Amino acid sequence: MIHDKFPKIWYGGDYNPEQWDEATMEEDLRMFKLAGIDVATVNVFSWARIQPDEETYHFEWLDKILNRLDEEGIKVCLATSTGAHPAWMARKYPDIRRVDHNLLKRQFGGRHNSCPHSPTYRKFAELLADKLAERYKDHPALAAWHIANEYGGYCYCENCAAAFRVWLQKRYGSIEALNKAWYTSFWGHTFYEWEDIVPPSGMSEEWGGGRSNFQSISLDYRRFQSESLLDCYRLEYDAIKKHSDVAITTNLMGTYPELDYFAWAKHMDVVSWDSYPSLDTPVSMTAMTHDLMRGLKGGQPFMLMEQTPSQQNWQAYNSLKRPGVMRLWSYQAVAHGADTVMFFQLRRSIGACEKYHGAVIEHVGHEHTRVFRECAELGQELVKLEDKLLDSRLTSKAAILYDWDNRWAIDLSSGPTIALNYVDQVHHYYKALYDNHIQTDLIGLEDDFDRYELIIAPVLYMIKPGVAEKIDAFVKRGGTFITTFFSGIVNETDLVTVGGYPGKLRPILGVWAEEIDALFPDASNSIVMKQTYGGLTGEYSCNLLCDLIHAEGAEVLAEYGSDFYKGMPVLTRNRHGEGEAWYIASNPEEKFLKKLIAQICQDKGIKPLLNAPEGVEVTERSKDGKRFTFLLNHNAEAAHVELPAALHGAKDLLSGLGMNDVAVVPGRGVLILEQV
Ligand code: GLA
Ligand code: ZN
Repeated sequence: MIHDKFPKIWYGGDYNPEQWDEATMEEDLRMFKLAGIDVATVNVFSWARIQPDEETYHFEWLDKILNRLDEEGIKVCLATSTGAHPAWMARKYPDIRRVDHNLLKRQFGGRHNSCPHSPTYRKFAELLADKLAERYKDHPALAAWHIANEYGGYCYCENCAAAFRVWLQKRYGSIEALNKAWYTSFWGHTFYEWEDIVPPSGMSEEWGGGRSNFQSISLDYRRFQSESLLDCYRLEYDAIKKHSDVAITTNLMGTYPELDYFAWAKHMDVVSWDSYPSLDTPVSMTAMTHDLMRGLKGGQPFMLMEQTPSQQNWQAYNSLKRPGVMRLWSYQAVAHGADTVMFFQLRRSIGACEKYHGAVIEHVGHEHTRVFRECAELGQELVKLEDKLLDSRLTSKAAILYDWDNRWAIDLSSGPTIALNYVDQVHHYYKALYDNHIQTDLIGLEDDFDRYELIIAPVLYMIKPGVAEKIDAFVKRGGTFITTFFSGIVNETDLVTVGGYPGKLRPILGVWAEEIDALFPDASNSIVMKQTYGGLTGEYSCNLLCDLIHAEGAEVLAEYGSDFYKGMPVLTRNRHGEGEAWYIASNPEEKFLKKLIAQICQDKGIKPLLNAPEGVEVTERSKDGKRFTFLLNHNAEAAHVELPAALHGAKDLLSGLGMNDVAVVPGRGVLILEQV
């Protein structure tokens, strides 16, 4: 998709020469060459420079930058600058300034600060995108378009309120239907007229931490704001497309809570995202997030748009990436489907809040630094890889369902526990697959389930129309489905499906959950196996929530070990059509899940890519009948990996070495084995 422009893994990142003089830029260009950098993302925050007033546009300085980059053979990912509006616009047109969750009107400042329903923002953002596209559509350096920057945040202003009412009218048709869908008979909330409805701010239904009195209105406001920002993105997208066929993206943020990225990805030519794990983020969490970003467009390769070469500035403790880690994490992105490796930032700014954010070129200004050396080494390696891996795909038989509506509903829920975190639950299951070296896709509810043998839906609390039917068909045709406690409870407007939990999933799972117990943080129960299943035997601990379930046709594999519900089922399997549906009624310890998933996969014939020691991550990308196995050693010490017969004689693309039956992966090292 992006590689007709230049067929290699792009290497570079955010570059802000508007912050310094031309001589500095010349130095940068010299060093980019040394580092093998071949793409620069420019014009991310230059709206004020381009457009100093209502009528004037200055592009000459940007022409110069693009031309110089082009002369040096560096391609450009061209941003539209609409991630932060100019001061004059905020002064002259107050509608562009957001109103925050406490209904305070924002003043000028910050970024990602424009109201999505501001006529001013929409008009000037679209116009700017149009002018940029018209001017640079044929520029030889142009490789991709980058709209705005990290869309996010909500607005609660009058324009948004009015647009919300229109959105609701379209969605519900009548105020009666809305009252019903939102259950406004509760607390006498009946709305008489559309005008009665105000955004669910901290001054109406919501309070600290995003909790709400009325989940339905809060949920709809999230949908609405996500769509509103998407509309802004689409205005720019269409403006650019009128002139240019070059791929268009905007940089996403992984599991960022506020936007429904599955909906967004439909309007992006290529997904790109900014990956900022901290030193203590589990590597499996980063792997999962890459897989989610790849899943947004059905497995199409994505762009790693930003990562730091060394440290962040915005975390509480901004540790340095240890030697080798930047390279390792770069290849981790590639191993999960990235076709670019890009940084924020190429040169460190000297003022404002990002001056202590890592960069390829540090404040010292020369290339004799640890970070630069590591970047340059990686740059040289990526040149050697040529186009070998580009557009190769990962194929998985296992998938995890991820859904933003479901996450919103869980986050907004008042009860049963504040400790339930959707992303952590998804990660808990992902890690069980990851530790077993089972390649996994993260998919949305609209994706094709039949491509998979195993689908796990952790805490599928909300069942939207058609979803239970889709799961039912998947299982009946022979698939294995796993879900957990607190699933199947509500419909798409957060109204409980009456008649017993897990609602529409009840016949598929063959269980009825009568009650849900929330455990204090230091409390636990246990999972007592009734018989051995694979490596599972004896007792394991569980915590967080315990559903008190009755088997209604499902086979009981384990029971609770304590409390008044001791002896009630906690792990069940229901044969349903040709397949089976598992229910895990509590939150098991890691060891339990790893063994359970290993056995379920084995039963389904889903094989690990290979057996690697702990801390060694394995993925496989393939194209044109060629397979590439990535071995990523996250340990500090070398790891020995026994290779299956198919990999005997394979060649490591990075070192050029041929393999026998055992591969030695250096500490924090990477091997990319091409099967012969
Ligand atoms: C984000 C932004 C960048 C920069 C980095 C810093 O990803 O897109 O502009 O602020 O964070 O980590
Ligand atoms: Zn607004």
